[in-house]
Amino acid sequence: MARLPPEARHFDAIVIGSGAAGLTAALHLAERGTVAVLAKGDLADGSTAWAQGGIAAVLDAGDTVEAHVEDTMVAGAGLNHRATVEYVAANASAAIDRLAALGVPFNPGETVSERWHLTREGGHSHRRIVHVDDATGWAVSQALIKAAQAHPNITLVPHMAAVDLITHRHVLHERFPARRCHGVYALDVKKRHVVRFLAPATVLATGGASRVYLYSTNPDGATGDGIAMAWRAGCRVSNMEFNQFHPTCLYHPKVRNFLITEAARGEGGQLKLPDGSRFMDRYDERLELAPRDVVARAIDAEMKRLGLEHVLLDLTHLGADFVTYHFPTIHARLLELDIDCTRVPIPVVPAAHYSCGGVMVDLDGRTDLDGLWAAGEVTQSGLHGANRLASNSLLECLVFGQAVADDINAQRIHAASAPAAAPEVKPWDESRVTDSDEEVVIAHNWDEIRRTMWDYVGIVRTDKRLERAAHRVKNLRKEVQDYYGNFRVTADLIELRNLVTVADLIVRSARRRRESRGLHYSTDYPGLATEAVDTILDPSLTREA
Ligand code: FAD
Ligand code: SIN
Repeated sequence: MARLPPEARHFDAIVIGSGAAGLTAALHLAERGTVAVLAKGDLADGSTAWAQGGIAAVLDAGDTVEAHVEDTMVAGAGLNHRATVEYVAANASAAIDRLAALGVPFNPGETVSERWHLTREGGHSHRRIVHVDDATGWAVSQALIKAAQAHPNITLVPHMAAVDLITHRHVLHERFPARRCHGVYALDVKKRHVVRFLAPATVLATGGASRVYLYSTNPDGATGDGIAMAWRAGCRVSNMEFNQFHPTCLYHPKVRNFLITEAARGEGGQLKLPDGSRFMDRYDERLELAPRDVVARAIDAEMKRLGLEHVLLDLTHLGADFVTYHFPTIHARLLELDIDCTRVPIPVVPAAHYSCGGVMVDLDGRTDLDGLWAAGEVTQSGLHGANRLASNSLLECLVFGQAVADDINAQRIHAASAPAAAPEVKPWDESRVTDSDEEVVIAHNWDEIRRTMWDYVGIVRTDKRLERAAHRVKNLRKEVQDYYGNFRVTADLIELRNLVTVADLIVRSARRRRESRGLHYSTDYPGLATEAVDTILDPSLTREA
């Protein structure tokens, strides 16, 4: 057998993504073998480190797993898969215990009977959110990274951007079954060459795609890379039309993606118009604590009705001590921008926040490809349905990160007596590309995709706008594909290529749904269909996959 060139690296498992889902999976996988964890930037660059409000779990004697399940189903407008919701809710408190054991300093309870302080967020019928002040994600991310750095079986590989999954198409000799993933081609962003990472098990944990919209609460890297890679490799994706817009992103000319946590409304914050009047009573009896889709649509409607650039989130009546105690990070960040939220209301707008759709997985996180699992925001597991309930996302990452690892570890034990030989995989081929002399095309197309999605595929949709979006996205896809075929791959090009694929998947899914459900609201189909059905896109049935 020919020797593999040196840039092929072998592991027992590869995890793509170093957020809550990826690192949870890696820590459990490392109990039984070697693991490489790839991240396209620094290890804490994903959404996990930005999470504010906290993690939902039934931890109070007066609360029940059944109530958590029902709240999740109500927020998800009945599209959730009940078995997934029950599985995640039932495993929540154990997931919190594991984080606490890793050293996550959750805020302690205020009475002796309460282990941790629980805050409230929209759509929850009970106080159920454990948190670390208003910067929960940072504490979770740091604890997971520290544990992974200390583990002898884990190799952390930051600045390594996955380009494409390695499947049967890339294997030199056809003795491996079709529809199997063998690892990933990844760009070493600093050395600028493509490396092959090979393993019998690959886990996608690349997060969401909210950066496909012009205004988003997400970090720059949320470009749907995992969804696009899985789609190209032959996996089905579903419910891509359900893009969650968080109601309260800071409105500021210089800072466009700073979130004001939902817990601010949970603890009594009020939404107001510039004249100081409240308006949520005209939209929902749960007022500011209605699920996010309802609150975001209400804000959007008021902004359009009155021609406003933002509405206001008022915390001033809560008292300065309360605000600085519960929201120290937000208070400090706003002060840097000359906004003292203990004295003046905060200007806020809805912004793209979370991708409810994604790569289809079962309860073990298995995808359509053998050898490929997925966990976290990259997936559509059935948990969120048509609208994610606040603070259920980090929970999903923790529960599915573990589920994926358990399934892979079990398969490994099973196969231990006859380990499969690694396939010979084609090296990355750069013989037909050159360095780009037109970087401006990337910046221009990037901007056009995001504007198109914001203007035509936003909070309120119509057939006409979706048709316009489909037309523009089709042209952009062609342009980006030509560019990709001619020029050497770069980190920006990887993201642009994935963004345009994700935009296409969202528009296609939105055009298929002829009803208004959860986050997908169309003025052409304002009613709810009698049956809740997932929108499933299958690359093997799609000409332009
Ligand atoms: P991420 O944490 O986003 O990590 C993705 C990882 O994949 C990163 O390491 C990234 O580098 C890597 N990656 C991506 N593409 C590639 C590639 N091509 N090659 C290599 N690596 C790649 N949820 C809650 O439950 N509670 C909250 O309080 C909460 N607050 C939030 C606040 C904000 C501002 C935001 C943006 C989100 C919030 N969410 C919250 C949502 C939640 O944080 C995310 O859904 C969750 O953290 C996603 O975790 P993940 O592990 O799936 O992905
Ligand atoms: C927030 O803190 O408002 C974000 C919570 C979430 O996205 O679940």
